Amino acid sequence: MIKNRIIQGDCIEVMKNFPSNSIDLIITDPPYGDNIGYGWNNKKIKNNETPLINCLALIEMYRLLKRNSSLYIFTNWKHYPFLTEFILRYTKLKIRHLIVWKKHNFGLGWAFRHQYELILVLEKGNPKYTLTDFSDVQSCSHINHNKTNHPHEKPVDLLEKIIKHSSKEGDLILDPFCGSGSTCKASNNLNRKWIGIELDKKWCKINKKGG
Ligand SMILES: C[S@@+](CC[C@H](N)C(=O)[O-])C[C@H]1O[C@@H](n2cnc3c(N)ncnc32)[C@H](O)[C@@H]1O
Repeated sequence: MIKNRIIQGDCIEVMKNFPSNSIDLIITDPPYGDNIGYGWNNKKIKNNETPLINCLALIEMYRLLKRNSSLYIFTNWKHYPFLTEFILRYTKLKIRHLIVWKKHNFGLGWAFRHQYELILVLEKGNPKYTLTDFSDVQSCSHINHNKTNHPHEKPVDLLEKIIKHSSKEGDLILDPFCGSGSTCKASNNLNRKWIGIELDKKWCKINKKGG
């Protein structure tokens, strides 16, 4: 299996080529399926028309995870009920917890401006966690998009904290919807092996240049 690389393609097809029980940790941030553009210039990402793609990908992700491993998936309050219903009905993943990522600053807009996102913690078996100071509210800055310009780039420091909590050096981490490659960068910083998958050539090119 190729490691420390971003593979361009549809993650469901790409993941079918990976062996079962081969991944130590999955952190991923799929399109939520709300079919909208983001930011002042209304940027859109691929496959954001329905939430089906990320639900279906969970079935492959479960197969790839080693026993006693965790899967962190970003979501929002609108998509959360559909996602959890799908997980409970159609996967063998166990729902362990829900983390609130509270951003220091607000998103664009007016009434009810966005200041948090959700991260669902899913498990295959009974994973161990290492940090004693890891709470279910994680405070961290909103990302400054000037580096990659990906509308959903996630903060590397938040991802590093999750990685420290759920893996050890040398482990293999997968992000099947890797976008600008923030999970890959965080894994690399902490001496973990990693694989990113991204459908959109544009983000793969930026990743090659080092984001
Ligand atoms: C919410 S963004 C991820 C952003 C990422 N967390 C970051 O920090 O940059 C979701 C990404 O999934 C990609 N995507 C959509 N459908 C996909 C598929 N079938 N396989 C792989 N990537 C896909 C989109 O192009 C988009 O870049």
